[in-house]
Amino acid sequence: MRISVIGCGGISRYHIRNLAGIEGVELNAFCDLVKEKAESNSREYGARAYEDFREMLEKEKPDACYICVPPFAHEGQEEMCLEMKIPFFVEKPVHLSLEKAKELAGKIEAQGLITSVGYVMRYYGCIQKAREVIQNEKIGLVIGKYLAGVPGKEGSWLHKKELSGGQVIEQATHIADTMRYLAGDVEEVCSYKFQGINRNIYKGYDAEDASVTSMKLKNGAIASLLCTWLGPSSAGIELIGRDLSVSYERRILTVERGDKKETYGEESNPMLEEAQSFVTAVRENKPSLIKSDYSDAVKTLELTVKCNISMETGKPVKI
Ligand SMILES: NC(=O)c1ccc[n+]([C@@H]2O[C@H](COP(=O)([O-])OP(=O)(O)OC[C@H]3O[C@@H](n4cnc5c(N)ncnc54)[C@H](O)[C@@H]3O)[C@@H](O)[C@H]2O)c1
Repeated sequence: MRISVIGCGGISRYHIRNLAGIEGVELNAFCDLVKEKAESNSREYGARAYEDFREMLEKEKPDACYICVPPFAHEGQEEMCLEMKIPFFVEKPVHLSLEKAKELAGKIEAQGLITSVGYVMRYYGCIQKAREVIQNEKIGLVIGKYLAGVPGKEGSWLHKKELSGGQVIEQATHIADTMRYLAGDVEEVCSYKFQGINRNIYKGYDAEDASVTSMKLKNGAIASLLCTWLGPSSAGIELIGRDLSVSYERRILTVERGDKKETYGEESNPMLEEAQSFVTAVRENKPSLIKSDYSDAVKTLELTVKCNISMETGKPVKI
């Protein structure tokens, strides 16, 4: 199975390493706007290097494609894969334009193209265990958080809301997606943001420093998502039902039921499982192996885009 990679930056290194270890996978071509990055991978894997993804896909006609570009840089890669019927894996968030992403999702569904999106938390053993624990439980409250320092170097695209979408769309989307995966779809959000510290420290920074979102789920449960790029580092999710708390943080799942408490450590290599699921799904035409496909990921994009709209308007927004 010949796989070509578009975008040879930070995350792509991990995907490449995992794919290279899967039997029968050949990394045949790499593409990056910074050609040296594509060339360095090509030297390592005996592949060809390109600056232009269109040229790469036309010449190489791979069996599958990995798209690992920043949120602002989705500029036709998925459309071309669709046209050429090339199954693809794409990193989250799938786009910055909800409209464009919905249009693409419709075409992908119509064609039945196999896609996978990098919502890697869905492949965590602990998150699978959490799903198992709550499958017959009624969850009333969900608490999600993504607290972190400012990511990337000064001037990074991450700091510019127009390029990254801000913390909720770019980073906390992992938690938003896991909330949806475990507790169900969201009906309405109301978000508030705080700004005014990081922009005085990092040149060009205009993302929010912190945000809080309240959510009403379609099944009647309620949820909150707390986010910051102000410093302390912890990310996780807690689901609460009657006499039950199921929480995941720092690779540990804790299940408290009444006065009984059990913990489970994360033992899987989720990114490898994500890659293996995609490769097997394509090889054996089994899309059910994929835990986050393009259409489902667009629902998470919609949730996070609407958090941003609510932050700007100060009003609740329906999904
Ligand atoms: N799933 C995860 O856990 C996870 C972790 C980190 C990043 N990500 C996501 O992966 C994506 C990429 O993030 P990153 O940290 O690798 O960014 P990065 O800036 O380190 O790398 C992106 C690379 O894409 C290249 N690029 C941009 N436009 C291109 C184009 N049109 N054609 C070819 N190459 C192009 C850039 O030159 C750069 O080398 C983002 O959407 C990010 O949110 C996901």
